[in-house]
Amino acid sequence: MKKLTGSLLAFFALYAVPLTAQQESMNDLINRALEVATAQALSMAEVLEPQAGRLPKSVKEGALETSNCYWWCSGFFPGELWYLYENNPTPQLKQYATLFTERVRDVQYVTDNHDVGFMLFCSFGNGNRLLPQCNYDTVLINGARSLITRYSPVTQTIRSWDFTNNGKWQYPVIIDNMMNLELLTWASRKTGDSIFSSIAQTHADQTIQHHFRDDFSSYHVVSYDTVQGGPHLKATHQGFADQSAWARGQAWGLYGFTMMARETGRADYLDQARQIAAYLMHHLAMPADKVPYWDFNAPDIPDAVRDASAAAIMASALIELSQLDQSAASDDYLAYAEAQLRALSSPDYLAEPGTNANFLLKHSTGHYLANSEVDVPLSYADYYYVEALMRMKALLQAEE
Ligand code: GLY
Repeated sequence: MKKLTGSLLAFFALYAVPLTAQQESMNDLINRALEVATAQALSMAEVLEPQAGRLPKSVKEGALETSNCYWWCSGFFPGELWYLYENNPTPQLKQYATLFTERVRDVQYVTDNHDVGFMLFCSFGNGNRLLPQCNYDTVLINGARSLITRYSPVTQTIRSWDFTNNGKWQYPVIIDNMMNLELLTWASRKTGDSIFSSIAQTHADQTIQHHFRDDFSSYHVVSYDTVQGGPHLKATHQGFADQSAWARGQAWGLYGFTMMARETGRADYLDQARQIAAYLMHHLAMPADKVPYWDFNAPDIPDAVRDASAAAIMASALIELSQLDQSAASDDYLAYAEAQLRALSSPDYLAEPGTNANFLLKHSTGHYLANSEVDVPLSYADYYYVEALMRMKALLQAEE
């Protein structure tokens, strides 16, 4: 385990932020934030319990916006409840985690998009991790089988969307797709069938080869030629421009390669994660509080809106990376994640209990140029924030 004390020194060295006697300890911060998260999540669960099949998505025109299980974010709220149950295993949290997980069950048969991994592994995957007796395995294995129907041996990737952007894309693969691979590596371990992990690694290998620029920023969309196999076009869908660095996409890449390094032990995946981390941590357009603008190339920086979800995903990934990487940079990853958690747990981002339609974080951005979900709460910002708090808490406990 990397020592937090070491990371604190690295924090001083890198960012020269004075630690005053008044600064809240990380322990106190985590406990406070998890208390707020629990209160908000229970209130959210109470609101949604009578609304059959509904799951929280965001806030629209001042009111809670929900979805059914087929929206790509359906697994995040159940997953957040599982993390909160892990932190504080009360019957009420277990009951709600189970209830909202069950609302996602039908996703196991979804074959028309790649988000099955997000939807099932955050919900059923966390449930399975904490309560193996729930018999969630079958749902997860069915989901993994559904996901690999989207693999093509020609492109050697899993197709993200059937959407072709008016015929411009033959076979779109987005950087976000890295996040769906954990379901597959898990499925290989569970079933003993290497096909799942082999597809996950082939997809990740193609992503290293085709999604990244020389500076280790990534394109959002790479469309592959369905006959030749290689990319025929590199573009964006949710970013500012084809050549820009859409913030959440960079965070997905960091998290995805860190996770794949953990899952496979492969040094090239760890190295990819380290390079992406360096790109992000030293980016000149990263604001002082380390919560990225929605796109690193947004034209209105420093007035551009932020994406707290990107910071939460990044913090969670950096905590894990700090434990996988044995180099001197490891302390820097942890220090950076600490700084991000401090920012996200401040009143600037963390909602007062009873506000923010019971979401945790304010100021995330879903799809800026479509004017959709701009400067709002989002269920995945909350999920990765709670995951990061839990990961940091585990490190602190390991030090005691
Ligand atoms: N995976 C979709 C998004 O990050 O907005």
